[in-house]
Amino acid sequence: MIIDKIQFKKCFDKIEDKTLRKNINNLLDYICNKRKGFLEKPSAKNHHHTYKNGLATHTLEVINTAIFLNKSFGKPYSEDEIILASFLHDLGKLYVYRFTDRGIDAMRPPVSEEALSLRLAYKFGINPSIDVIGAVEFAHGGWSNLAKNKYIQPTSLYAIIHSADILSANFGSMVCK
Ligand SMILES: [Fe+2]
Repeated sequence: MIIDKIQFKKCFDKIEDKTLRKNINNLLDYICNKRKGFLEKPSAKNHHHTYKNGLATHTLEVINTAIFLNKSFGKPYSEDEIILASFLHDLGKLYVYRFTDRGIDAMRPPVSEEALSLRLAYKFGINPSIDVIGAVEFAHGGWSNLAKNKYIQPTSLYAIIHSADILSANFGSMVCK
């Protein structure tokens, strides 16, 4: 199934904060333009969702899975936070992967993918909470060791987004409603 902009827009309709809803839709329009090509990008070179539309597919799977996990644990977080953290968690990959004649090329931006994701949010007037920033920064793990050594204080949002990311990466086409 090809994931398109309408599926993201439907998902963003669930966002209660009007300003966030407007800004996240503007960000979506921006990344879906021809030059940014969000809907065409792969999510990785080798690991998972390595096909055209892979990044959008993975992102929507993470959003839906994170909503499901949040509900399963009694909704400790608002859906606004869940949708925002999930949507942002891999957006920086827009600047990393691209299709060429030889397959997928991985570029090496001078800052992390997570920093690029957060920059995109700020560019569109989205100011993620410190919790959402942490969940984006640590969506791919690493937080438990840092927490053990008391470098950071993770919250359950880190675990929700990280778990949703792992599930999507492993099961690929899993979609929870
Ligand atoms: Fe991811």
